[in-house]
Amino acid sequence: MRFEVFATLALVVPGTIAWGGLGHRTVAYLAKKHLTDEAVSLFDQILKNDFGYDYSDAATWADTVKRSMPWSSPFHYINPEKDNPPETCEVTWSSDCPKKGCVVSAIANYTSIVLSTNQSPIQRKNATMFIMHLIGDLHQPLHAIGWKTGGNELEGLCWKRLPPSGRDRCAGDLNLHAVWDARLAHRLRGLPVSLDTALEKQAAAQWADDLFSQQQAAGGAGGAGECAELGTTDCIVGWTKESNALVCSHVLKRGERWILKNDLSEEYFEENWEVVESQIAKAGLRLAAWMNAIAASISKMHSDL
Ligand SMILES: *[C@@H]1O[C@H](CO)[C@@H](O)[C@H](O)[C@H]1NC(C)=O
Ligand SMILES: *[C@@H]1O[C@H](CO)[C@@H](O)[C@H](O)[C@H]1NC(C)=O
Repeated sequence: MRFEVFATLALVVPGTIAWGGLGHRTVAYLAKKHLTDEAVSLFDQILKNDFGYDYSDAATWADTVKRSMPWSSPFHYINPEKDNPPETCEVTWSSDCPKKGCVVSAIANYTSIVLSTNQSPIQRKNATMFIMHLIGDLHQPLHAIGWKTGGNELEGLCWKRLPPSGRDRCAGDLNLHAVWDARLAHRLRGLPVSLDTALEKQAAAQWADDLFSQQQAAGGAGGAGECAELGTTDCIVGWTKESNALVCSHVLKRGERWILKNDLSEEYFEENWEVVESQIAKAGLRLAAWMNAIAASISKMHSDL
């Protein structure tokens, strides 16, 4: 029930609800495992709070302030204009990022704020929490496509739930963006459609453990193309193009008509769960590389003084 409410909200604020809590929390827990000691000490200090909030709470914060900080909504995505998936997926970030901002300009902006040690602690804390969220968002393919407002307007989709709660009928009101935010990830981890915060954190921590083991077994990076050129948008644009291309190669490969006609918890899930898993894994690794680079850059500035 709660999820249905969530999905409805996504229609009201198109394109701005990101990987569900599970995805964002997993990205944060995974990133934490890859941080250098230097980065852990910097970010533990920046994120310090009296509420018992951990890194995964930091990574979900940006979704909770979209009402109180409405100007931050456009920071969660980029809506390229020339998209015509599945035939054409294309991003030209300089023209596709409007004046009010997009995910690329926002990550660049918040990176420079965290790097400015003369900014106030709260500025740098909020900036860190934006970065932890937005690098995750960028890896959700539908955050890098303009088509139907990131898939939010492809509605009325069918997703049959697993027994025992599931019945042999399609769950209510569902759009493609919500399928990619949470349905695929929850099904791939064998989880119900919605979870309370404690269970969501536990599930995310387990997923991060599994992904970390896989990455260690693959010899570290596993070809995720970490990139940490903090002073340019090159890395961020590269990640955006990858996500955008996944919309043509996977998300909409079957075409709109097919997607509207089929139960997406079956063949569509089988064809796409690996994309979700690998995007979450990459996002965790890349976020860590980014945070490590920020910490290294700040230490270097201090030692150069
Ligand atoms: C950078 O972040 C600050 C603080 O949230 C915000 O006021 C400003 O509009 C942002 N600038 C850009 C270009 O996104
Ligand atoms: C930081 O975020 C909090 C909400 O969590 C908000 O109340 C505060 O104004 C923000 N501060 C800055 C400097 O952006």
